Amino acid sequence: MITQVLVLNGPNLGRLGVREPEIYGSAAFEDLAELCRSTGRKLGLSVDVRQTDDEAELISWVHEAADARLPVVLNPAAFTHYSYALRDALAMRTAPLVEVHISNPATRESFRHTSVVAAVADGTVAGFGLVSYQLALQAIAELAAEDATGEPGPGLEEPAEPADPDKPTAP
Ligand code: DQA
Repeated sequence: MITQVLVLNGPNLGRLGVREPEIYGSAAFEDLAELCRSTGRKLGLSVDVRQTDDEAELISWVHEAADARLPVVLNPAAFTHYSYALRDALAMRTAPLVEVHISNPATRESFRHTSVVAAVADGTVAGFGLVSYQLALQAIAELAAEDATGEPGPGLEEPAEPADPDKPTAP
């Protein structure tokens, strides 16, 4: 079964490649979008990547995801740090949510140390460049598989059986 996922991106992320490349890297937004789609294909996810500079549009996509029970990978960009409206929309979610950042906000200016959305997400991946999105999609694949079957998803191995102390070991 193919799981549909929205990868939503907030303000200024459409400028990737030209925007502070020393922080955000030299890949363009379209490169990020293609990386997400190809990563999704390997994980059995159909990935729809979107970007907006507009808070109302981003919130309308979050509503759409909640209504359709779609998992979301979200880079809220600067909205991370102050948008209670976005946070309240995300609190209505009906499927997994992973917050993602290209940079590591914890190592940057103090206003970036607060995320008002982190508490309503399943988890956050930050600081690994575009790989943050790949890790977030892997987490979504796991969470979606768990929701569907109650079993761990494709990426995680079953833990090994604990060793039986009474059983003789092979020489
Ligand atoms: C960001 C970090 C935010 O602090 C910043 O406002 C962004 C991008 C990141 O991906 O590293 O726009 O979310």
